[in-house]
Amino acid sequence: MYNSRIIGLGKYLPDNVVTNDDLSKLMDTNDEWIQERTGIKERRWIKKGSEDTSAVMGAKAARIAIERAGLTKDDIDFIVFATLSPDYYFPGCGVQIQEMLDMKTVGALDVRNQCSGFVYALSVADQFIKTGMYKNVLVIGSEYHSNGLDVTTRGRGVSVIFGDGAGACVLSREEDNTKGILSTHLHSEGKYADKLIVASPSIGNWVPEIIASKGEDISYFPYMDGTFVFKNAVVRFSEVITEGLTKNNLAKEDIDLFIPHQANLRISQFVQRRFGLNDNQVFNNIMKYGNTTAASIIIALTEAWEQGRVKEGDTVVLAAFGSGFTWGSAIIRW
Ligand code: UT7
Repeated sequence: MYNSRIIGLGKYLPDNVVTNDDLSKLMDTNDEWIQERTGIKERRWIKKGSEDTSAVMGAKAARIAIERAGLTKDDIDFIVFATLSPDYYFPGCGVQIQEMLDMKTVGALDVRNQCSGFVYALSVADQFIKTGMYKNVLVIGSEYHSNGLDVTTRGRGVSVIFGDGAGACVLSREEDNTKGILSTHLHSEGKYADKLIVASPSIGNWVPEIIASKGEDISYFPYMDGTFVFKNAVVRFSEVITEGLTKNNLAKEDIDLFIPHQANLRISQFVQRRFGLNDNQVFNNIMKYGNTTAASIIIALTEAWEQGRVKEGDTVVLAAFGSGFTWGSAIIRW
């Protein structure tokens, strides 16, 4: 059995910076509230009229990851694309990547696991490599949130949090079983699906019904029971990190870098305290980019690597929690 190792990383963030002060011109909010509750100072939102979409941003990040891996698009055997904001209801963004990168007719799979999307996508890619079926798998997380948010005071509890962006990596066959992705751990609890949801359009509530409601039906905007999600997040983060450490006979002191899904700086800090990690052991960039859902971990991992924060032999822990509920972790020996 093989192992899998990340050999190339890339990210793409749209240029357009939206500060908390910018948001306070759209809705009743302020920089102090947003920073105090979430840690976010600014986020990137695609400018109207830009060519960027989830697939386009994913393709931009993917090209960088493939080049940094020292490969070409023809070396890629499979695509896994994680997003909750696909360009189309169907088909998924994965097939768009195959077209945009002018790739061979390799398989393409979309993962619909929201904030845990990247960890799930990485796990799927890891299994394909471990079984020997594929050698190089392109894994992408990308989100275009800004066009789907309620940017009025009504939606302020959600819309100030989310940002746009994409990250990608190439996961490749590794003969040395002590290196690469050591294990992944995935969970779900569907009874809380309605606590963080975009309910429409759905087959049961399609576009004509929404139009007929003349603005009464706003179920196409994200809804979140923030406090409930927060309370569950801190518990599940802790559980799934412990699960990963235990599986690999590791102690919390062995963690060289913990990269949490960037949901809320307060959640990351709570988990940091819970595991007694110092600031050098944790990487956060939610301050600059907000919560980019399935893209957040891979953007952060790429940025950490670019800054020299991830070194050969390091133990890197990824963990995520979000809509579904779904949560997961990945333990990596770099
Ligand atoms: O990534 C997926 C997983 N997501 C998460 O893990 C997010 C988890 N939840 C959270 O991060 C936090 O719950 C939020 C940041 C979403 C909200 O923070 P909170 O401390 O739970 O605030 P709250 O929702 O309890 O709201 C407190 C007050 C309310 O006013 P009243 O009822 O106390 O008068 C809100 O109306 O803050 C008000 N509020 C705002 N005020 C200014 C809500 N949003 C805003 C805003 N600006 N943007």
